[in-house]
Amino acid sequence: MAIIYTLVNQKGGVGKTTTAINLGAYLGYYGQKVLLVDLDPQANATSCLGINKNDVHSGTYEVLIGRKTIVEPILHNPRFKISLLPSSPALAGAEVELIELDHRDRRMRNALNPVLDRYDYILIDCPPSLSLLTINGLMAAQDGVLIPVQCEYLALEGIGQLVYTLGKVRNSIYPELKIRGVMMTMEDKRTRLSHDVITEVQKFFPDQVFQSTIPRNIRVAEAPSFGQPILFYDENSSGAIGYQLLALELLYGDDKLDKAQIMQQLAGMKEQGRIDDERYQTFINDLG
Ligand SMILES: Nc1ncnc2c1ncn2[C@@H]1O[C@H](COP(=O)(O)OP(=O)(O)O)[C@@H](O)[C@H]1O
Ligand SMILES: [Mg+2]
Repeated sequence: MAIIYTLVNQKGGVGKTTTAINLGAYLGYYGQKVLLVDLDPQANATSCLGINKNDVHSGTYEVLIGRKTIVEPILHNPRFKISLLPSSPALAGAEVELIELDHRDRRMRNALNPVLDRYDYILIDCPPSLSLLTINGLMAAQDGVLIPVQCEYLALEGIGQLVYTLGKVRNSIYPELKIRGVMMTMEDKRTRLSHDVITEVQKFFPDQVFQSTIPRNIRVAEAPSFGQPILFYDENSSGAIGYQLLALELLYGDDKLDKAQIMQQLAGMKEQGRIDDERYQTFINDLG
């Protein structure tokens, strides 16, 4: 039975799509069967995986409005070890069309039913809004939401609104909705600002912020133009290492890997010179 996480933050440009792709690729690397659902009409996740969104005539839109069942439109990339339900600009129209349909807020959740046994992880990438599409993403987030927060001035601005919306969904239609974790993206280790922002976000979400932060790294920004996850574009970049550690942390928290397996993976990374002693020790200590 798949673990379903939805990446949500109504602010654009915080790293939702980048995290969905790169975390997804590392989960695949660690043997998990991963389905990425592109729930954004901008179809960035689709493009980042090298698919032209204008060529997609069977994808999230057709599935949501019930024209297709989910099985057929899914594309599998054996090299990236990731499957994708692609999006297209047509999805923008779904916002209006959904209003007329039954179960308009849980159509994504229902649509996933036939494939729950085929995947270990389903990651849903939401648009930068708190629209009906995002509500569909939240209703499908069976195992919680993942909230990427960019390390920048006023990072928490808008988070109040997001937490309020999560609360409203919880109180009205989906009491089980939970936050699986908050990931800090585009960290600049040289600046005091990044450090202060992380501390502030940790105070706001006690015990919910992943210890693995994602550094700002040009290679991460370049990878999409080659249609590749960072793991395939430059696995030794700081961004790749950030996403690899995040994947390990998630897999540990989800009981997919035990401590011994995590330590073995980290030891390998240390041996390859991809993490230093200090990073290794902090990671192990923080696992508890
Ligand atoms: N760690 C990173 N380092 C450098 N650039 C990044 C990083 N993460 C994301 N970006 C870039 O920031 C922009 C916004 O990221 P994206 O994942 O599309 O955000 P969202 O999906 O939340 O709108 C993209 O151009 C992406 O390439
Ligand atoms: Mg996006």
